[in-house]
Amino acid sequence: MDIKNTSSSYGFISKNFHWIMTVIILLNFTLGYFMGDLDKGPLRFFIFNLHKSVGILVLVLIILRLFWRLINLVPIPLSQNYLLNKLSKVVHYFFYFILLVMTFSGWTYSSARGGPINVFGLFSVPALVEKNNEIAKIAINIHTLSVYVFIAFVGLHILASLYHHYFLKDKTLKRMWFGRSN
Ligand code: HEM
Ligand code: HEM
Repeated sequence: MDIKNTSSSYGFISKNFHWIMTVIILLNFTLGYFMGDLDKGPLRFFIFNLHKSVGILVLVLIILRLFWRLINLVPIPLSQNYLLNKLSKVVHYFFYFILLVMTFSGWTYSSARGGPINVFGLFSVPALVEKNNEIAKIAINIHTLSVYVFIAFVGLHILASLYHHYFLKDKTLKRMWFGRSN
């Protein structure tokens, strides 16, 4: 398997970015979704901190991934439909954009409520803003809204890839998966 993308398939690095980040982001969504219901105490503190740490990891990975995408070929779409090809390109870039919004709004909320974040107990990232309830309210609204818009787009993205695989019967899904697709 090539390290870099080719005009016909994704390379090793892009595939790993794609699937490892899919798992990490969906796990962090699950943590975020349930953690608000936890009773105050060490477990709640631990899970909140884990959610923030994983979120910061996602932020670092998405910047690296965007950089990797920009210096790489993007495989030529397998469908002939000009409009759908344009749409898929827009949705792919939208994922990068909304992941930045999700992570920065989470970081801003956390800063406005509490201060610096201890990432996996290894190092701290500084607060982005001073403690401020108004900013916290706006940031958490943006965080929640962006996360749910993102999940809706992931649903659309999964449906599109299943449509390629089962109806159009092309290699769109296979060439993002590991092993040989061509
Ligand atoms: C992959 C990225 C992320 C995803 C998928 C995600 C997802 C979520 C979800 C689903 C919620 C619950 C929202 C609600 O029900 O109102 C949430 C809340 C929260 N998120 Fe994130 N988040 C991400 C990144 C971050 C980051 C980077 C931080 C901070 C550094 C963060 C801090 C928080 C905090 C503090 C809350 C709790 C709000 C509360 O209940 O008091 N999140 N997140
Ligand atoms: C957190 C969830 C996901 C995100 C953020 C995401 C994001 C992306 C992005 C940005 C691309 C463009 C390539 C790149 O820049 O890396 C892509 C391609 C792709 N994704 Fe996802 N994805 C997610 C989950 C999934 C899932 C669950 C599936 C399949 C069931 C899937 C199937 C594909 C396929 C087949 C491609 C290649 C499309 C093409 O060749 O035009 N993705 N994804």
